[in-house]
Amino acid sequence: MYDYFLGGTTNFPADRENAGKAMAAFPGVLVAARANRQFMHRSVRHLTQMGMRQFLDVGTGIPTSPNLHEIAQGVAPDARVVYTDNDPIVLTHAQALLRSSSEGRTAYAQCDARDPEAVLKSTEVLETLDLSRPVALSLIALLHFVPGERTAHEIVEYFREALPSGSTLTISHVTPDFDPEPITRALGAYAAAGTPVQARTRQEVTRFFDGWELLDPGLTVTHRWRPDAEHDLSQVTDAEATCYAAVARKP
Ligand SMILES: C[S@@+](CC[C@H](N)C(=O)[O-])C[C@H]1O[C@@H](n2cnc3c(N)ncnc32)[C@H](O)[C@@H]1O
Repeated sequence: MYDYFLGGTTNFPADRENAGKAMAAFPGVLVAARANRQFMHRSVRHLTQMGMRQFLDVGTGIPTSPNLHEIAQGVAPDARVVYTDNDPIVLTHAQALLRSSSEGRTAYAQCDARDPEAVLKSTEVLETLDLSRPVALSLIALLHFVPGERTAHEIVEYFREALPSGSTLTISHVTPDFDPEPITRALGAYAAAGTPVQARTRQEVTRFFDGWELLDPGLTVTHRWRPDAEHDLSQVTDAEATCYAAVARKP
């Protein structure tokens, strides 16, 4: 559905039918998907410019160019990137994720985010990243697919404890805070399609950053996070973007 919202071609009739129901419930979903993806672009570029050279992207999604490694390695060719997702469809497109990367600097691991220990112990992570050095962890538009309080927060806590000081955490997350009714209806369409989604309030999303130091501008809506000249998001409203976003650093 996300691939369809972004204008991709890696989607099936059932995806398009369910995406149509979500769009009928919440017409802003196309803007929300684009604003989220562009937040990924800006946050990765910013982190690479800050000196981050190792990226672990959990819940990568179907490839949509530019992918994370193209942005990071466009700034720093020596940047190393590991993608992970639990959707077998993403695995079948992993080659597209690995294209245009220097050999050995980009890898894909099929993992479930609900087992963060398995993510960090995967062969691809161990062969590509040096876990004694800072890692830029991204959980972009992922944690709302992990309903329930404990697991989602436990995932983030596990990574915070396991990754070294200087590592960073990037999150974007659907919220009901701006216009709850269409969001509730759209999430109903996701649930009916077999994908439960939990929107979280500002306070709940802020809790993911306990023990991390938020980088400027703190927690904001995706399109407001360090806007640049490349992405004209001036017409986007908070209710359309409807995802909180932030980047933080482990002290
Ligand atoms: C909306 S897409 C986001 C893609 C990309 N991060 C972005 O923001 O452009 C969410 C992705 O999270 C993945 N996902 C959902 N639950 C997951 C889990 N428990 N473990 C790993 N990946 C998961 C889905 O398969 C999907 O590819």
